Amino acid sequence: MNKHRPLSPAAYVPADLVQPRVRLATSGEAALLNSTTAAAAERMFAAAAASGVVITLASGYRSFNTQIATYNKWVQADGQAAADTASARPGYSEHQTGWSFDIGDGSGRASFTPAFASQPAAVWAKANAHLFGFVVRYPWMFHEITGYYYEPWHLRYVGVEAAGEMNTRGIATLEEYFGLEAAPAYR
Ligand code: DAL
Ligand code: ZN
Repeated sequence: MNKHRPLSPAAYVPADLVQPRVRLATSGEAALLNSTTAAAAERMFAAAAASGVVITLASGYRSFNTQIATYNKWVQADGQAAADTASARPGYSEHQTGWSFDIGDGSGRASFTPAFASQPAAVWAKANAHLFGFVVRYPWMFHEITGYYYEPWHLRYVGVEAAGEMNTRGIATLEEYFGLEAAPAYR
């Protein structure tokens, strides 16, 4: 998914949403993931904890209706052009698929800010997430391809094989990995 590839139907709801057994920094629907992603998240968070790094689930599933409210808040605060660099329009968010979630640090510091990149949870995830099938979906300085500024907290499950291959080959974005056109803006 990206700004050229919305969900169809726009109000899609995953059939297998579950709450992973991980440290939660959220509740309700945002504590849900699809079952495959939840199982991979449990493995990843446990491995991080075993290395002394606490990762929290800060925001997982987001319904179409929730994304309307989330996106509108961004537009009201920053205007539409800036909102579009940080928040997906309804029907365009990976959060609605259950395949993506945002992480926090055990300290709770710098959540959803650029400074989060240097928190232990983000450093650990950047180095290790691929081992569990995740990619940092909106990497630093790739906004002209992904459409979003750096989000060191936003992980997307793509499976161990794809995430490992991207890591080995140094491919930063799913657009490049799948040979898709860059999607900096909506059409
Ligand atoms: N912040 C990401 C791009 C989303 O809204 O899905
Ligand atoms: Zn996110």
